[in-house]
Amino acid sequence: MLQFNNGKFKILQVSDPQDMHYPRRSMLRMLDKAYDELKPDLVVFTGDNVLANHLLDARFGNKHVAEGFEATKERMKKSLKIILEPLEKRNIPFGMIFGNHDDMCCMTKEEIIDLYREYSCFVGLVDTYGHGDVGTHNILIYSGDTPKFNLWMMDTSRQNKEEDKGYEGVTTEAVEWYKQTSDELGRLPSLMFQHIPMTETANCIEECNKDDEGAIRYYEEDRYIRLKPECVNSGRLSEPSPGCKANYGQYAAVKAQGDVLSVIYGHHHMNLFDIDCDGVRMIQTPAASFRCYGNENKGVRLFEIDENNPDEFTTRHITYFDLMGKTPLSMLGYFIDADELEKPRRITLAALGATAAAAVTAGIVKAIRK
Ligand SMILES: [Fe+2]
Repeated sequence: MLQFNNGKFKILQVSDPQDMHYPRRSMLRMLDKAYDELKPDLVVFTGDNVLANHLLDARFGNKHVAEGFEATKERMKKSLKIILEPLEKRNIPFGMIFGNHDDMCCMTKEEIIDLYREYSCFVGLVDTYGHGDVGTHNILIYSGDTPKFNLWMMDTSRQNKEEDKGYEGVTTEAVEWYKQTSDELGRLPSLMFQHIPMTETANCIEECNKDDEGAIRYYEEDRYIRLKPECVNSGRLSEPSPGCKANYGQYAAVKAQGDVLSVIYGHHHMNLFDIDCDGVRMIQTPAASFRCYGNENKGVRLFEIDENNPDEFTTRHITYFDLMGKTPLSMLGYFIDADELEKPRRITLAALGATAAAAVTAGIVKAIRK
């Protein structure tokens, strides 16, 4: 049973740590530092915890796809161990939701949940595989025997494996379960975590001019978008932010129940923002992964809840450089490990190679002349 600790409860969100079985050391060092310095009472992995067999997102390429159930399961176990063992060692409870990538393989979500259950610090999906949808559940935080705060952990990634679709949305069944449970809990103050943003996030985005504050290019098209300034509490878009494919009434339910202080997303690796979407606060946390696409927003997000004032919370995003400092070593680690630096890395290596070759050639010429 999760309990407030001296009246406080700290939740650390780690999203998209999808480095798989060959993790980049910088991500692991960053996470270790976050656990040791921030001392969370709970860590929540908010999807794309592993890439499963959908490996093109991380330059592994399909040639590295695991063949067959046993090989896939072994790789899944190995990948999970890399991100879960550091928590088990520190005795930090952790929960999870699925992203669109986690089960892109021959394993079912239930089979993957069973692997999480091998860890004693795992909470949330211990007695159930989910309500309404596999993966959808809630985690209560208690003060003594009384539940004081609630975490909704919503599955947004029901997918048709044949068609490789992973962005479906929170289904009608899960929304009904949420409404009913919210009433049973007396509309306890809560945070709601889900991997993919609600479709309504789009209501906070507008077309704009190239030079407008916060403008980004809409993919390869000749148009620009940004967060509507009147919606922004903080942050900005760094990439377009398409949400779930379908809307099954989650937004309306959250608004009507009034128990959710904020809905919190992962999925878009570069976006970092906090917006008010017509009365529903939405927070976007960037990826922790170094192996997949991203930017300097790579990091984790901390939430702090006060037992005596559970209707409010504080939150801050903490980047790799916030945690590791900007030292020559941390910058070198970032340069070596961050996937978005692939091009400069190649150019640097080519330049170093060319310089070495020139030096060797000059040495040979000098020796011949002698
Ligand atoms: Fe991801």
